[in-house]
Amino acid sequence: MKGVILAGGLGSRLYPLTKVTNKHLLPVYNKPMIYYPLETLVKTGIKDIMVITGGTSSGDFLRLLENGREFGLEHLTYAYQEGEKGIAHALALAEHFAAGEKIVVILGDNIIEKDISKEVEIFSKQEKGARIILKEVDDPQRFGVAEIREGKIVKIIEKPSIPPSRFAVIGIYMYDNQVFDFIKTLKPSARGELEITDVNNMYIEKGQMTYGILDGWWTDAGTFESLLKANILVAKQRGKK
Ligand code: G1P
Repeated sequence: MKGVILAGGLGSRLYPLTKVTNKHLLPVYNKPMIYYPLETLVKTGIKDIMVITGGTSSGDFLRLLENGREFGLEHLTYAYQEGEKGIAHALALAEHFAAGEKIVVILGDNIIEKDISKEVEIFSKQEKGARIILKEVDDPQRFGVAEIREGKIVKIIEKPSIPPSRFAVIGIYMYDNQVFDFIKTLKPSARGELEITDVNNMYIEKGQMTYGILDGWWTDAGTFESLLKANILVAKQRGKK
């Protein structure tokens, strides 16, 4: 299995913090934000990782992460997303890198408390399809939200004004190689992006989506409030050690 970190976009919700740098390079307590998703992937044992950047200061990722030796890796692979056309658009750049293998995709601003090795292991044994991870939250309207019936996800709705549940789809997605064919059929959403939620709904329609529930805390860090929350959660966790 291979890993993909998506770290593009303009980070417009964090302006002016993101005027001259990339969101994923901003500090979260004592490390740049991108360190956390990279560590999450490395902890699962994945060694082959691609970082897809774009937007402001994209060249700085190379200077910061180099070959990934600090994380126990031998090398990192990089790709550059032209334009800000969404998560699924960025992921399309990983097709050649994936080379037919299953992938674990993580959004560069998603930070979690615990290890997801178990989830990745379950997916490695899944014959085909995709697996996502849900977390119960108080503000589901900010995320992709799962509509669940009789223990099965029937649909994911992106940022619903009336959420069908409190289970947000966190930014860690496990896919087989079909994902790249699905992306090719996508049309831009109302916000002009190729949505990862549309990809996930294709797997659901095919009956090939499984899910797990995340253990421990999770936050994104793409708004002032969530960036502050991420800093506090990481600082508290370090305090406990
Ligand atoms: C994206 C996804 C959303 C997901 C979230 C997790 O939202 O579209 O489904 O719940 O990441 O962080 P965005 O941050 O692009 O608004």
